[in-house]
Amino acid sequence: MNAPIVADSVAALRVQVRNWRLAGLRVAMVPTMGALHDGHISLVRIALERADRCVVSIFVNPTQFAPTEDLDRYPRQLTRDLERLREAGAHLAFTPSVAEMYPTGFATKISVGGPSSGLETDFRPNFFDGVATVVAKLFLQAAPDCAVFGEKDYQQLCVVRQLCRDLDLPVEIVGAPTVRDAHGLAMSSRNAYLGDAELDIARQLNAILRRTAAALSAGADEADAIEDATKAVISVGFRKVDYVAARASVTLEPWQQNRNGRLLAAAWLGTTRLIDNVEIPSA
Ligand code: PAF
Repeated sequence: MNAPIVADSVAALRVQVRNWRLAGLRVAMVPTMGALHDGHISLVRIALERADRCVVSIFVNPTQFAPTEDLDRYPRQLTRDLERLREAGAHLAFTPSVAEMYPTGFATKISVGGPSSGLETDFRPNFFDGVATVVAKLFLQAAPDCAVFGEKDYQQLCVVRQLCRDLDLPVEIVGAPTVRDAHGLAMSSRNAYLGDAELDIARQLNAILRRTAAALSAGADEADAIEDATKAVISVGFRKVDYVAARASVTLEPWQQNRNGRLLAAAWLGTTRLIDNVEIPSA
């Protein structure tokens, strides 16, 4: 495979995408914060199935981190990321600086309602404003036909769909299944923070969620099932549970029995916060 073109300015990105469009090619985008793992590569593969050219953005977006969060220690490994993109066949890596994305005087924020309320927002109040603002900018900069987001960040996927619907952004949003290791642990750049003992604990989160989703589908009382799941997460070794919650799969409003839904969780393992989610199939 050829190495991807690397564009670090909006102008260079636009020239390249315009040339592809003039040639009649369809363009897909995969927005990332780098530290690419197999989950990201699966998004690139899906993008390549749906378009002729794939743009991957690598930008650790400061506006979606709270001052107490891990912006400084978030893994950055551009050389390795570019090699992974070459192997995967991505065509362009967009690697803007913070100054390119947020030049002096930048003063706009996009705030999405609906699915952004609750869950992550209860614990990271500015997170989705940061995500929505940067994703809107990336879409306006790259003007892709479609963009692929992982279901691992399920609430983010719902928020991005809402953003595009509400602002008439002409980008088809494609949700991609979560990639997991052999033990069910969802791939995440933050897994790099975990030692072996913590990985063993982290690997139990998904099994607890699957068990709970199955119980809910089978008619278990929702409050009891959520309480049992929360206790189980703590008992396997997590330090703190931010939430375990059953929601409607598109709106993320409260889940109703016998409807298709999503069970979402966020929990702390030491100083690392992990999220995961599974489907609650309708009975
Ligand atoms: O999911 C991520 O990696 C980020 O939230 C995103 C969508 C690239 C925006 O910075």
